[in-house]
This record gives sequence, C-alpha cells and structure tokens, in this order.
Amino acid sequence: MTPPLTLEGIARLYADQGRNHYGEGVSQIEHALQCASLAEAAGEPDSLVIAALLHDIGHLAADADGAVGDGTDDRHEVTGAQLLKGLFGEAVRRPIALHVAAKRYLCAVEPGYFEALSEASKESLRLQGGPFDAVAAAAFARRPGFREAVALRRLDDAGKSLRPCGRRLEDFEPIMRRLIAEAAARQAGGSGLRSFRV
Ligand SMILES: [Fe+2]
Ligand SMILES: [Fe+2]
Repeated sequence: MTPPLTLEGIARLYADQGRNHYGEGVSQIEHALQCASLAEAAGEPDSLVIAALLHDIGHLAADADGAVGDGTDDRHEVTGAQLLKGLFGEAVRRPIALHVAAKRYLCAVEPGYFEALSEASKESLRLQGGPFDAVAAAAFARRPGFREAVALRRLDDAGKSLRPCGRRLEDFEPIMRRLIAEAAARQAGGSGLRSFRV
C-alpha cells in the first residue's frame, strides 16, 4: 500500500505520470488542470477546486506502481482519497472518494446521461458496477457530500477538451498549501481539545 502523499510527492507524481493518456485524447495532467479551472470558473469552493485537480490521482499512483489495466476496476477513487489522507481534509477527499459513485448515480437518474458517456467511460462504468438501481440512487442522494460529488463528476465530464487550458499545477499550489495548513490546524486543534477533555 502506497503511503500518504506530501505536496512534493503530488508534484512528482504529476511530473512523472501526468503525460499519460487519460483515455479520451487528453493527458492526465491536462484533464486535472481543466477540471480545476472549470471548478474555479464555476465559483466552487477551494476544496472542490483541489478535489477536481486531484480526483484521478489514484490512476497516476497505479501507473507509477506499474499496475497494468487487467479488465478490473482499479478503485482509483478510493486509493486517491486514501493517498491524500493526512494532507487534506474531508472537503477535498470526500468528493474524490465519491466521484465514481456520482457517475453511477447520474446514469440512474438523468435521462440521456449514460448515452452521452464516451465509450471509455461506458466501459469503466461496467467495471465499476454499472448504474445504481433506484434504491442505491436514493441512498446516495442522502449521503453527506452528495452535492460536491455530483458537481465533481460534472466537472470530470467537462474537463476533456482537446484545447489546452493553459494552466499549470504550480498555479494551484498556493490553494493546496493553504488547505493543507488549514487541515493541519484543525487536526492540532481537535487533538488539543481531546487532550483537554481527558
Ligand atoms: Fe476518475
Ligand atoms: Fe477524471
């Protein structure tokens, strides 16, 4: 199991693996930057901008480990959220963990959503369990973080333009640093409060 990442580790991963193809004519790094730029343009909070930037980091980590696609689901949303544990708070990690579930949800409830998916996305959906049934879709809509997960999935769908967005990973570094510092402060405050109560 890959240990949690540092900010430098994130930069290295995108430098080393970011040119890999996302699968729809766009590289991993370009897909990440487009999703984050679109989140910013939509006025989403910084936590969702960074979730959009890093939502497929689990794929890059699998590539770095030399994992070869073998026709099974690599559960990249889960490994991605785990890799960012200890660095970012839940507002960043939860939408990442739920962005595949959000695709399964939208396929279930939104007419035409499934049909509009690319062939690559339809194939990954099949490996990920297919569209939710009505019960699973209703349960997902009640989950904390539902709105952000669906918003991230829509950014994911939109961030596949063949025209580069002109942004760089470094452009988002100040936001990442601030969110990391905030998460660390919350963590320290939380543990301080616990020890005070004890
Ligand atoms: Fe993904
Ligand atoms: Fe994606």
